[in-house]
Amino acid sequence: MPIILAIESSCDDTSAAVLQNDMILSNEIATQKVHQQYGGVVPELASRAHQQNIIPVVDAAIKNAGIDKKDINAVAFTRGPGLLGSLLVGVSFAKSFSQALDIPLVEVNHLQAHVLSHFIKENDSSVVPKFPFICLLVSGGHTQIILLKDYFDMEILGNTIDDAAGEAIDKAAKVMDLGYPGGPIIDKLAKDGDPLKFKFATPNIKGYDYSFSGIKTSFLYFLRDQLVDNPNFIQENINDLCASIQHCIVSFLLKKLQKAMKDTGVRQVAIAGGVSANSYLRSQLTELGKKNKWDVFIPKFQFCTDNAAMVGIAGFFKYLNNDFADISLPPYTRGMM
Ligand code: KG4
Ligand code: ZN
Repeated sequence: MPIILAIESSCDDTSAAVLQNDMILSNEIATQKVHQQYGGVVPELASRAHQQNIIPVVDAAIKNAGIDKKDINAVAFTRGPGLLGSLLVGVSFAKSFSQALDIPLVEVNHLQAHVLSHFIKENDSSVVPKFPFICLLVSGGHTQIILLKDYFDMEILGNTIDDAAGEAIDKAAKVMDLGYPGGPIIDKLAKDGDPLKFKFATPNIKGYDYSFSGIKTSFLYFLRDQLVDNPNFIQENINDLCASIQHCIVSFLLKKLQKAMKDTGVRQVAIAGGVSANSYLRSQLTELGKKNKWDVFIPKFQFCTDNAAMVGIAGFFKYLNNDFADISLPPYTRGMM
C-alpha cells in the first residue's frame, strides 16, 4: 500500500497531493493570480510564485492526508512538458525531498498524467475506465485524440497542427477583452447565449487532426467587420458571441472524436485537461455518448485543470512497475509520452 507524494509545477498552478495506492488522500492547489493583470502566464513570475507556494502546499497536502512525512514511500513529480523555470521548482523540490527521506523518485509526463487522472479513486465505489478507451485531451497547450491500450501504452490518433483548443478559447476571450484565462469566463457567459447565432467556419483537416488558428482568425475578422458598423457590437452580443464560438470549437472537437470512436470501434470515451471543465463540452459529450451507447468518463472539476493528484496516479502505476527516476534527470519543456 505505497503512499506517494506528488508534485505538479509545470505552468501556473503549484500543487501537491498524497495518494495511497490509487486512492486520493489530499490534493492541494495554489492557483497563481499574479498573471491575470498581464492577460497570460508570465514565466518568470510563475517560477517565483512556485518558490513561494511549494513548501506551504506540500505541508498542507501531508497534513490533510493525515499522514507523517516518514510514511511516504516515493515522490512523483512532473518532469515536463511545461515552462522550464516552473518545472525546475517542482523537480528540485522533489529531488531534495527524496534525498532527505531516502525514498525513490518517479518522473511523470504531464500529458500522461492528465489522461490517467481517470484512474484516481476517491472511494471504493469509484468507477474507472477499462482498456481500450479513447481520451480527448484538451488543455491550454494540447489537443489530442489518444487511444489507450494500457496505462502507458498510448497511441496518438490525432493532434492539432497549430493552436490548441484552450489557446483558441483564451485568444477569443482576449479579443473580447474578457480577461485571462478566458475559458471559464466564456463558459459562464455562453450559458445565456445562443450557440447558433453566429457561424464560424471550421477547417477541413484530414483524419483525426485539428486546426484552430483558422477559427481564431475568422472570429477576429468577423468582429473587426461588425465593429465598423457598431462600436458596441461586442458588449451588445457578448453572450451570443461566447456561445457561438464555444459551439464552433466544441462541435469541431466532438466531430473528430466521434469519427475516431466509429473507426476504432472503441465503446468507452473520456475527456481530460483544462478544457474538459467546459460545461458545454461536458453536456454535448454526454448527449453523444447516450446516442451512441458509449460509456462516457468526465473528470471531476478538480481533476480537469492542473493538479498533483493526476501526477500521483501516474506515479503510482510507475511505482508498481519499479520505474524509478535518477536524481540527475533534468526537466524538459516539450515532448509527449
Ligand atoms: O490543463 P490546463 O489547466 O493547463 C495546461 O496544461 O495547459 O488547461 C488550461 C486551459 C486554458 O486554456 C483554460 O482557458 C482552459 O483550460 N479552461 C477552460 C475551462 N476551464 C479551463 N476552457 C473552457 N471552459 C472552461 N470551463
Ligand atoms: Zn495541464
